Amino acid sequence: MIDIETIPNKYPVITLCGSTRFKDEFYRVQKELTLKGWIVISVGLFGHSGDTEVLNDGVKEMLDDMHKRKIDLAQAIYVINVGGYVGSSTRSEIAYARAHGKKVFFLERSDEMWEEVIGRVRGIVSADSSLVADMANVSAILHDAFGWWWTGFYTVDKTRNELILGPFQGPVACTNIGFGKGVCGTCWARRESVIVPDVEKFPGHIACSSLSKSEIVVPILSASNDCLGVIDIDSTNLNEFSDRDRQYLEQIAAIVAVLKY
Ligand code: SME
Repeated sequence: MIDIETIPNKYPVITLCGSTRFKDEFYRVQKELTLKGWIVISVGLFGHSGDTEVLNDGVKEMLDDMHKRKIDLAQAIYVINVGGYVGSSTRSEIAYARAHGKKVFFLERSDEMWEEVIGRVRGIVSADSSLVADMANVSAILHDAFGWWWTGFYTVDKTRNELILGPFQGPVACTNIGFGKGVCGTCWARRESVIVPDVEKFPGHIACSSLSKSEIVVPILSASNDCLGVIDIDSTNLNEFSDRDRQYLEQIAAIVAVLKY
């Protein structure tokens, strides 16, 4: 679900896109986004869920055109890509939204999206660029693709035996985390990824923002299995992160580590 909180008295507009076979998900997402403070524009007919009027002459073309006008009215679109499915009309709506500077959110993080992100990371991280530049760009790529509440890096400072805040996207965060402390320090100490479905149930969790509800932290490991830092991501949703997310984030950590150390 979308990782954004209500801004008091400000109701941004979002347009739902996706196959009309996912009628139940359209209603569910419409409700959840409305409760989060978005003005939601949806489809008017569900052609693939029984609204046969769509088959009448010219109706489908009119609806496709109308949907682009609905995108014009919005700041963002929300793609209902159940099981990763994105049909050709939706694909063209995503391209249209991006071309017009609209933010694009997805219901599911499909393998396709992750592969695109990995490709962007490979394209930007190089042996010649600085580590700070790479961490900054990776934070931006992840934030842009998935819109999480906080996305960033901590690096290991061996002399202080602490993690030091690195480049990130999101609200201000704690600057130093001790070895074994919080989720990040635990990941560093164990040298393995930690997925926290509910931060309130993680003993010692360090709350940088009261809005964070779940978290994933992935270590950046050198060839000799030394932990050089961590990638940390926070979501305002409970239970946001899956094992699949972990695998892709570990790939990203490996790209950063291999090229840099
Ligand atoms: N929650 C983390 C602290 C870092 S912030 O989430 C950005 C932790 O418990 O280590």
